[in-house]
Amino acid sequence: MKRYNIGLIGFGCVGQGFYEVLKANPSIPAQITKIVVKDASKERAVDRNLLSFNIDELINDPAIDMVVELIDDVDVAYDILKKSLSLHKPVVTANKKMVAENLSELISLQTLYKTPILYEGAVCGSIPIIQTIDRYYQSENITSISGIFNGSTNYILTKILEQNLTYDEALQEAQENGFAESDPILDVGGFDPKFKLSILVRHAFGHWVHPDQILHWGINKLQNQDFDFAKANGLKIKLVAKADYKNGSLSLTVAPHFVNAQDPLFYIDNENNVVIIDGEFVGRQTLAGKGAGSHPTGLAVLSDVKAIIYGTAYHYKIPLEFIIPDSVIDVYVRYDATTDFVVELFESISEKYVGKQSSYVLGSIKLNQLKSILNIDNVNAIVMTQEKKELQTTKLTYSYAS
Ligand SMILES: NC(=O)c1ccc[n+]([C@@H]2O[C@H](COP(=O)([O-])OP(=O)(O)OC[C@H]3O[C@@H](n4cnc5c(N)ncnc54)[C@H](OP(=O)(O)O)[C@@H]3O)[C@@H](O)[C@H]2O)c1
Repeated sequence: MKRYNIGLIGFGCVGQGFYEVLKANPSIPAQITKIVVKDASKERAVDRNLLSFNIDELINDPAIDMVVELIDDVDVAYDILKKSLSLHKPVVTANKKMVAENLSELISLQTLYKTPILYEGAVCGSIPIIQTIDRYYQSENITSISGIFNGSTNYILTKILEQNLTYDEALQEAQENGFAESDPILDVGGFDPKFKLSILVRHAFGHWVHPDQILHWGINKLQNQDFDFAKANGLKIKLVAKADYKNGSLSLTVAPHFVNAQDPLFYIDNENNVVIIDGEFVGRQTLAGKGAGSHPTGLAVLSDVKAIIYGTAYHYKIPLEFIIPDSVIDVYVRYDATTDFVVELFESISEKYVGKQSSYVLGSIKLNQLKSILNIDNVNAIVMTQEKKELQTTKLTYSYAS
């Protein structure tokens, strides 16, 4: 069997993880023959003869058969992809932002050059979700995909709720463990799971929805009051990505949710991710595991390398027709005396609490109305996942500054 020469671009958290898991698998007919990095002054645990600083030289090298792109720069990564495909060199990438924002064009380029791109590592680290949907759900009518798609925010939320760490301490720990993106707002602002949701939606529903069309907000506006509400009601807060398909409508959100102990998401902690797929024929299937980190993501990258060696490319489902509706959502909204007009925007209210410094309202609101208040200081929303009647809410007296 032909041995593949891999050109690796990027030798950070995932690049090193991939290098190590490939080394641990000597039976795979592939070897890394060149590694491009940016900073010449950094010490690297690798043979210096493998290192280079010129991306074009690597792509144009006729001895390189396959490009593995693992850098954190979206524009450079996109350029690498286009150049490699034009030379009929297959590419493996884990760059979710680049893939999500350009997926429509990436599909056309693969067809044009008859050369595949695989990106399993871009969605939920070690969980083999893209190949699963692409290969095993081709004939299924998927009705919903949801879950926890971001390891670092789940890690932060777990540490705050269970070990009483501050938000900054928990974020620092996530960064030290290699779960966080170089730019933390991609994680804590809810952007990263939105890129992953956009990619999964293309594979599950056959339609590319640009990430900008997905309503999202993150965990960066959560305050002590919100965690106190969760604790007082036996709930956890999870950043949930969700695509629900019903009667030709596809509703898409990435948002913090309150989840109770009956919800499978309640038990997914630390950097772990979970993807829940609901389908007409199979019912519900759940895949859970490490959603980030050097070796877990490195293994997903290696699986793609192997898939390319064995001639795999994505199938891409035929598009369904759908609209993105302005649905009604059940939420908890925290506000203060300067922002109490938010209450007027609700369709219906099941509970309202007015405190000295901080208040909250539980009720139903249209997504577009909710969107209009999400960027206001001192206003934060958390989606309620259980029936409101089941929630015996405990009113809290807020005595600290908001
Ligand atoms: N970390 C995770 O758990 C995880 C999980 C899933 C997907 N991803 C994705 O995987 C990709 C890599 O993430 P990472 O966490 O490994 O990033 P990282 O630790 O910051 O490493 C980035 C690497 O890319 C190199 N690089 C950046 N710009 C470059 C350029 N213009 N030319 C050459 N090399 C360049 C850097 O070189 P220097 O070493 O010289 O700085 C570094 O080696 C990202 O797209 C990320 O979204 C990460």
